Amino acid sequence: MEFSIKQSHSEKQRGACLVVGVYAGGKLSPAALSLDRVAQHHLSEVVARGDMNGKLANTLVLHHVPGIIAERVLLVGLGKAAEFAAKQFTDAVRASLDALHKTASKDAVFYLTDLAVKGRDEAWKIKQCVLLAAESVFRCDQLKSKPADASALRKLQLGCADKPGIAAQTALDQARAIAGGIALTKHLGNLPGNICTPTYLAEQARTLAKTHKLKVTILEEKDMEKLGMHSLLSVSHGSRQPAKLITLEYQGADKNQKPVVLVGKGITFDSGGISLKPGAEMDEMKYDMCGAASVLGTLQAIAEMKLKLNVVGVIPSSENLPDGAASKPGDIVKSMSGQTIEILNTDAEGRLVLCDALTYAARFEPDTVVDIATLTGACVIALGHVASGLFSNEDKLARELLAAGDEAQDRAWHMPLWDDYQQQLDSNFADMQNIGGRAGGSITAACFLSRFTKDYRWAHLDIAGTAWKSGKDKGATGRPVPLLTQYLINRAAAK
Ligand code: BES
Ligand code: MN
Ligand code: ZN
Repeated sequence: MEFSIKQSHSEKQRGACLVVGVYAGGKLSPAALSLDRVAQHHLSEVVARGDMNGKLANTLVLHHVPGIIAERVLLVGLGKAAEFAAKQFTDAVRASLDALHKTASKDAVFYLTDLAVKGRDEAWKIKQCVLLAAESVFRCDQLKSKPADASALRKLQLGCADKPGIAAQTALDQARAIAGGIALTKHLGNLPGNICTPTYLAEQARTLAKTHKLKVTILEEKDMEKLGMHSLLSVSHGSRQPAKLITLEYQGADKNQKPVVLVGKGITFDSGGISLKPGAEMDEMKYDMCGAASVLGTLQAIAEMKLKLNVVGVIPSSENLPDGAASKPGDIVKSMSGQTIEILNTDAEGRLVLCDALTYAARFEPDTVVDIATLTGACVIALGHVASGLFSNEDKLARELLAAGDEAQDRAWHMPLWDDYQQQLDSNFADMQNIGGRAGGSITAACFLSRFTKDYRWAHLDIAGTAWKSGKDKGATGRPVPLLTQYLINRAAAK
């Protein structure tokens, strides 16, 4: 879809559809009001008749509006003006897009960017409109023999009453790049395990590196062996697919500026291994590489927007399958850090690949390391599908990530990482065991990782509940690309 910002008055605008808002009680938004004047009060009559009551997310398509050159006018309810905040705005935009896609409109002009949203500026509104529009046309039908029905909509203009400033144009450019990153993340996430293997992810990284001039390095199992990554390698023992450690380096700032390193869990299928998972919904464990996919999506987005920052992506990738060579409960392995791990449950494999990748991350002399992982079912129990779990060894970093998530409508919630939980990982036979029991499962997983991140500022995002949706709407969400890109944009701006 094509996006642009257009300075124009709604009443003079041509096109297939103009989208304007109506508050509860019938008060027209500024753009709706100027349409109404030209249309000899046709809009206010429709509202007075009761066909559009202004209830949040109600929509009504009007044809042949007198005095208006555009083919259609779409009215969307905004709810009470006093309560109109970020969530109401995105609900109204989503509803408008749904209604718009049901019409045959090839292009539309959105006049929702002129609505006052508590605490949010024009750049924010532009970004949200672009991301929501991109989401509304996303289809995952490459593997169907016939493509799914697509919307006719090709062009979306964001109407502004005033001349758009640099901030608006930057917001539009960034939003396009972020939408592309989200689409890549969703696409990779949705691919089945028989296509999206560690080797496939490595090829994707190579392609990304070529298009965006990134440096790419792929470590093979023999390379990892030499580095002593026996924890990571213990996970791929049961698989016919070789593990890969993928590194992508984006240099957008001075060579000497320390990078942000993003580490993404890339388990392309998690059966649990010998500690086999139950069969129900096991297909969803193809999504166990969504952390990795979000790293690729984020790197693509920031490379496209030419962000002035150095960022490294590290992706430990493997399958987790049962087999005669697979790790067994009770096995003890030595990690790259030298610490030994008793594998009491082969299904707690994410932390086993991440710990070696986190040790490896130190060689980039990072300013900050953020890992992203579909790490624990316990995180889904704690936070549901709304917030990602956030853990950090520095409160300031946690606050920055929380703020970025809030701004990007991709929220995280700060979870504790207190030493009090560490003892749950005590082992009689090794330096630690890889599980800490049912109590506080997402926290003990983070505690495990914290033992490998002592030398740098670090945060961990558990995206088990937010990376994909189950049921009728099954599909990857692209989260937390919005949070990560916003965090990096904020960092680049602070420099
Ligand atoms: N990939 C899973 C976590 C997961 C489970 C994400 C369900 C989303 C939905 C991870 O590898 C895993 O299996 N974790 C175990 C850890 C346990 C054995 C300590 C879990 O959460 O059950
Ligand atoms: Mn697992
Ligand atoms: Zn897993």
